[in-house]
Amino acid sequence: MEFDGAGVVVTGAAGGIGEALARRFHALGSTVVVADVLEKGVRSVADDLNAIRPDSALAVVADLRSEEGNRRLVETAHEYLSQHGRGSDAKSGIDLFFANAGVGTGNFVESTSEDDWDLAFDVNVHAHRWAAKYLLPRWLERRRGYFCSTASAAGLLAQIGSAPYSVTKHAAVAFAEWLSLTYGDRGVRVSCLCPQGVNTRMLSGGDLGDSRAGDVVRSAGVVLEPEQVAHIVAEAILAEQFLILPHPEVHDFETKKTADRDRWLAGMRKLQRRVFGDL
Ligand SMILES: NC(=O)c1ccc[n+]([C@@H]2O[C@H](COP(=O)([O-])OP(=O)(O)OC[C@H]3O[C@@H](n4cnc5c(N)ncnc54)[C@H](O)[C@@H]3O)[C@@H](O)[C@H]2O)c1
Repeated sequence: MEFDGAGVVVTGAAGGIGEALARRFHALGSTVVVADVLEKGVRSVADDLNAIRPDSALAVVADLRSEEGNRRLVETAHEYLSQHGRGSDAKSGIDLFFANAGVGTGNFVESTSEDDWDLAFDVNVHAHRWAAKYLLPRWLERRRGYFCSTASAAGLLAQIGSAPYSVTKHAAVAFAEWLSLTYGDRGVRVSCLCPQGVNTRMLSGGDLGDSRAGDVVRSAGVVLEPEQVAHIVAEAILAEQFLILPHPEVHDFETKKTADRDRWLAGMRKLQRRVFGDL
């Protein structure tokens, strides 16, 4: 897909990867709707973008934990982008929806509360399907639309020290695959972003459940800046590539995992012992 003139929605855009994605797509000529539960951050991103190009960004303060929050975001964004689009297919509304908002709540099965499990599933998984539910009717009618989600390398491998993160990010990858195989022949494109460490509040601010889980991510390889990730994502979307791996080594890790799961699990147990000691 082309970014110039496109109507794009990015969730979780008050900071981190989402903000960098919104800025990148905007720099490439898109009109953007930035959504987040954090009002101050998301308004400041939209203000910056409108200062660069008037009427090119809208902030939507939305809690995407609920179906209603997602429905309202899709409707508000569709209306705004239909009025402010400027491409060849201007009045068409949302061309790309980027479900990037995520939470790192929870850690071990014994110590994670039911509320934290619910929060992880609501934001990391259900928000994707709720958004898709309201996006698909228009996309299928016009036979064109692009859904991208941010899962994680943890959705292909595992997140040591966080059961909810591992499980929900696997579900996010599965949902993206399912969308692609089900609607790909009807004009709906899908990509899934699976980074390892990225220098954001989630990684550095202890938002990943247990701070030692962040140590595992940091020790697994290079920690990228959100802007680097955004550049890689834009290229991958231009190429309409499904799996986006800003850390290419994740592909090798996944190959080793699927080739011999027992060996991979033994290696992961060793890594866990190194970080968490004997539990
Ligand atoms: N930072 C990393 O190392 C890393 C690695 C792999 C995947 N990810 C994923 O990248 C995505 C972006 O995270 P980030 O690293 O930029 O961290 P971040 O904490 O800066 O961004 C997450 C954003 O999601 C928003 N959000 C959370 N719950 C929400 C809700 N209910 N409604 C609306 N918005 C909500 C937050 O307010 C925040 O702005 C997440 O899905 C995360 O799981 C991050």
